[in-house]
Amino acid sequence: MLDRLAPQAPDALLALIKLHRDDPRTDKIDLGVGVYRTGQGDTPVFGAIKAAEARLVETQESKSYLGPEGDMGFVEALMPYVFGANPTMGGRIEGMQTPGGTGAVRLATALAKAAGVRRVLMGTPSWPNHAQILADLDLEVAAFDHANADGTANVDAVIAAIEGADATDAILLHGCCHNPTGIDYTPDQWDRIAAALAAGKALPIIDVAYQGLGHGMDEDAAGLRKVLAAVPEALVAYSCDKNFGLYRDRVGAFYVMAAEGSQLPAIMSNAAALARANWSMPPDHGAAAVRIVLRDSALTAQWLDELETMRTRMRQVRERLAEAGTAGTIDLTPLSRQNGLFSVLPLSKEQIAALRADHGVYMAGSGRINVAGLTTANIDQFVRGLAEVSG
Ligand code: LMR
Repeated sequence: MLDRLAPQAPDALLALIKLHRDDPRTDKIDLGVGVYRTGQGDTPVFGAIKAAEARLVETQESKSYLGPEGDMGFVEALMPYVFGANPTMGGRIEGMQTPGGTGAVRLATALAKAAGVRRVLMGTPSWPNHAQILADLDLEVAAFDHANADGTANVDAVIAAIEGADATDAILLHGCCHNPTGIDYTPDQWDRIAAALAAGKALPIIDVAYQGLGHGMDEDAAGLRKVLAAVPEALVAYSCDKNFGLYRDRVGAFYVMAAEGSQLPAIMSNAAALARANWSMPPDHGAAAVRIVLRDSALTAQWLDELETMRTRMRQVRERLAEAGTAGTIDLTPLSRQNGLFSVLPLSKEQIAALRADHGVYMAGSGRINVAGLTTANIDQFVRGLAEVSG
C-alpha cells in the first residue's frame, strides 16, 4: 500500500542547509535558512536564555505533562510584548503554547477552517510553508501581490483583496519583517489595512515570527496592534524561535482575540482539541526558559539588549549593501528600507545556480537572501559575485 506514495521533493530551504554543510569550500556564504548570525558567522545561544536554562535545571522538579496549552506562564508573560499596554484587550485575548511559529500557523488556520473558513487570501511571495500548510488543510488560496517592483509594499492589492473577501475568507498577513521580501507595510498603510479589515468580512490571521528584528519590539508590533484595535476578532501566530534564538527548541504561541461578548472558552476548547489531535502537547523546555527570562527584570533587560545587538547588525549589513548601490544589474538600494533577516533579489534560477557554483553563495531559489549571513569578511565577495552573475 505504501508504494502508492509518490516521492516528494525535500523542502527546498531545508535541503539548502545540507548542501551548504557538504560544500568543502572555506569561503562559502550561507544566505539560506532564516537563522541570525553574528559578525563571526555564529548562531550562539542568547546569554539570557543560557542563564534561564541553568535556573531551570536547578529548580525544575518534574517533567510531568502540562496539557495541550503548554506553559501558560510563558503564554501570559509574552502578551504585553505582543499586544502592548492592554495585553488582553479587556479579556478578549487568550492563547496557548505551540511547537514553534509553524505550529501556531497550523493551529490558526485549522481553527479558522473549523470555524467555516474555506479560502485564505495571501500576499505572494510568502514563506513557502504557508502554502504547504494551507494545502495540507485543503484550504483554497487566493493570492495577491505583496510587493511592487520598486521594493515597496503593494498596499492597493491587499486592500482590494480585503474588500473583495466574503464571510468564508481569512487573510494571512505578516506582522513584521516580511518573509521572504523584508518589505513591511508602513504605519499609514497599516491604518488603511486595519480600516479595510474593520469594514470587510475576512478573518485576519497575523503571523508574527520576527518581532524585534525589524525596528524594535513595540515598533514591530504596531501594525498588529492597529489591526486588533480595529477588528472584532483575529488570530495571531507567534514565534520565539528567532527573537529568543530558540530555533530547534520550537517555541511558539497562538492567540485568539474574540469578539466582544463571544465565548472565548469555547473557542479555546476547539484550539486545545486541535492541538491534542496534532501534537498533543508542545515541547516545554524553550518556553519555560522564555518564561524565566520574562519574569526576571535583569534577564529581560539582557535579552532585549541581545536582541538590539542583532537588530543593529542586520541594519548595518543592509546599509552596507545599499551603499554598494548596484551590483551588475541588481539594485541594492531598497534593502536599507526593508526589515529583518530577509530580502529578495531579482535573480534568475541560472544566476542563483551560478552564485552557488562559482562563488559559494547559498540562497533560496526564490532569490531570498538572509542578510545575517553577510559579514565584513564576506560582503564584498557577495557583491562581486552578484555583479558577475548579473552583469
Ligand atoms: C525561514 O524561512 O528560513 C525560517 O522560517 C525557517 C523555516 O522553518 O523555514
